[in-house]
Amino acid sequence: MLPLSLSSPRWLATAVLLGARVTYAAFKLDTIEDIKETAATVAWDLMQYYHGNESGQTPGILPGPPPAGDYYWWEAGAMWGTLIDYWHWTGDDSYNDVITQAMLWQVGPNRDYMPPNVTASLGNDDQGFWGMSAMLAAENGFPDPPEDEPQWLALAQAVFNTQASPTRHDDTCGGGLRWQIPWSNNGYNYKNSIANGCFFNLGARLARYTGNQSYADWAEKTWDWMVGVGYIDKDYNIYDGGHVEQNCTDINRAQFSYNNAIFLLGAAYMYNYTNGSDVWAARVNGLVNSTLRTFFRDNVAYEVACEEHMSCTTDMLSFKGYLHRWLATATEVAPFIRDTVLPVLRTSAEAAVSTCTGEENGRTCGFQWVKRQYDGSKGAGQQMNVLGAVSALLVEYSKPPLTNGTGGTSKGDPMAGSRSDTLTQEVKPPTGGDKAGAAILTFVVLATTVGAFTWMSMGE
Ligand SMILES: *[C@@H]1O[C@H](CO)[C@@H](O)[C@H](O)[C@H]1NC(C)=O
Ligand SMILES: *[C@@H]1O[C@H](CO)[C@@H](O)[C@H](O)[C@H]1NC(C)=O
Ligand SMILES: *[C@@H]1O[C@H](CO)[C@@H](O)[C@H](O)[C@H]1NC(C)=O
Ligand SMILES: *[C@@H]1O[C@H](CO)[C@@H](O)[C@H](O)[C@H]1NC(C)=O
Ligand SMILES: *[C@@H]1O[C@H](CO)[C@@H](O)[C@H](O)[C@H]1NC(C)=O
Ligand SMILES: *[C@@H]1O[C@H](CO)[C@@H](O)[C@H](O)[C@H]1NC(C)=O
Ligand SMILES: *[C@@H]1O[C@H](CO)[C@@H](O)[C@H](O)[C@H]1NC(C)=O
Ligand SMILES: *[C@@H]1O[C@H](CO)[C@@H](O)[C@H](O)[C@H]1NC(C)=O
Repeated sequence: MLPLSLSSPRWLATAVLLGARVTYAAFKLDTIEDIKETAATVAWDLMQYYHGNESGQTPGILPGPPPAGDYYWWEAGAMWGTLIDYWHWTGDDSYNDVITQAMLWQVGPNRDYMPPNVTASLGNDDQGFWGMSAMLAAENGFPDPPEDEPQWLALAQAVFNTQASPTRHDDTCGGGLRWQIPWSNNGYNYKNSIANGCFFNLGARLARYTGNQSYADWAEKTWDWMVGVGYIDKDYNIYDGGHVEQNCTDINRAQFSYNNAIFLLGAAYMYNYTNGSDVWAARVNGLVNSTLRTFFRDNVAYEVACEEHMSCTTDMLSFKGYLHRWLATATEVAPFIRDTVLPVLRTSAEAAVSTCTGEENGRTCGFQWVKRQYDGSKGAGQQMNVLGAVSALLVEYSKPPLTNGTGGTSKGDPMAGSRSDTLTQEVKPPTGGDKAGAAILTFVVLATTVGAFTWMSMGE
């Protein structure tokens, strides 16, 4: 199934004119139809990275996790969100069945996006990305699954509830979520912005969707914690995180675009939920300022922590897409930022598509958009970025996120996730490839055994 654009005479003419080495005529974004056609082609190219619906493959995931393939579990969760927005903004439902199958396959035994297969690298952020995609399905009015299957809103609530549980919110650093969920994982001692950003973002959106203040209270609390601990500074820079051993004062000052975008979108929802409060308006303004200042060069998205020397990891190579999509959606729930944000997204999207001239099909997209030509970098993240940037150009022509009171039909369950595993307390057997975790586990088991003997001899 080729996208329309490939079979159209325009492409044939281009191919004929240029001979064997087909240089792809630049993607066009001039009209709504241009944007849809471009997005369709980029979406099709993105889906070439997905094999989960082929026989013998696992539905829902991209090739991985490393070393089995390039992509961690979370990135597929992010990809389904990208495609749910793609459907919402363009109306193209070609991938809806694949999306639904994927999103439902990965829910795990407790319907909370903690499938046992991924325990060895399961962070609150990983779970959060799947939860946010489920939330997006509810907000976009994505077709509801059959009644005997988990429902989008309930899945988002399950993720939120597991993260709001006291077992995940300990008192180190005065609160906040840790990065990893299982205590035996490398990174369990790190409290970071993206994990808390996912929780904040989900809380704000659940508050607006359901009207339940409890979610907003958690969002407020998370925001206050982020500021209190210094991960968000007075200029609205957002830093990556810190370790519990140092009470989170050893702040890693790397800045990533998805951190700003996730907090900006959550703040915009809080602004909306509070009927336009001054407090949240100021935070939205501050975040728009810092985001445009830090992550755009001449109005083109730029991943400042790693782009100059192209030291970005596979994860980081997908952040620009979230940046574009979340800024776009923020303009719907906080319309006062529209005139500042939308022209930047437009310029950036134009630069983005100008990198899509790589590889043999003449349309693989690159990563360094500021170069406005293909830079040799390719992957699912790079395609997802451009798809997000292009499809988000249609945000002005589409319905804002629904709520339970304005047409949202997804069924919720306020108690979802309450019977979930608390991996923070359980001793799980180590899984392959998790050496650091296994080492820590061995150490703790030894310590516990020694402790038990000591206790027994003292008891004698
Ligand atoms: C998998 O999904 C793609 C759409 O992304 C579709 O083109 C393809 O036919 C599907 N493959 C199978 C085996 O169903
Ligand atoms: C877990 O892994 C097994 C073996 O690869 C696979 O069959 C199963 O579908 C996976 N489950 C999920 C939820 O991904
Ligand atoms: C640890 O950090 C939290 C949050 O910044 C702070 O409230 C608390 O006083 C700190 N504790 C110590 C012992 O410094
Ligand atoms: C509101 O959300 C809280 C927290 O998830 C839940 O305990 C409570 O039951 C919800 N209230 C309603 C009316 O759904
Ligand atoms: C943006 O933030 C900088 C640094 O905090 C500040 O100097 C500037 O006035 C802000 N600009 C706007 C338009 O708010
Ligand atoms: C927002 O306004 C609506 C309608 O006036 C009101 O019902 C609701 O309680 C307000 N929400 C907040 C959080 O103040
Ligand atoms: C909240 O979002 C809706 C779109 O869903 C928008 O019409 C409304 O103006 C927003 N409220 C505020 C206070 O901006
Ligand atoms: C959502 O809306 C439905 C129908 O409009 C209503 O029955 C239900 O109580 C609402 N749920 C919440 C959580 O407000």
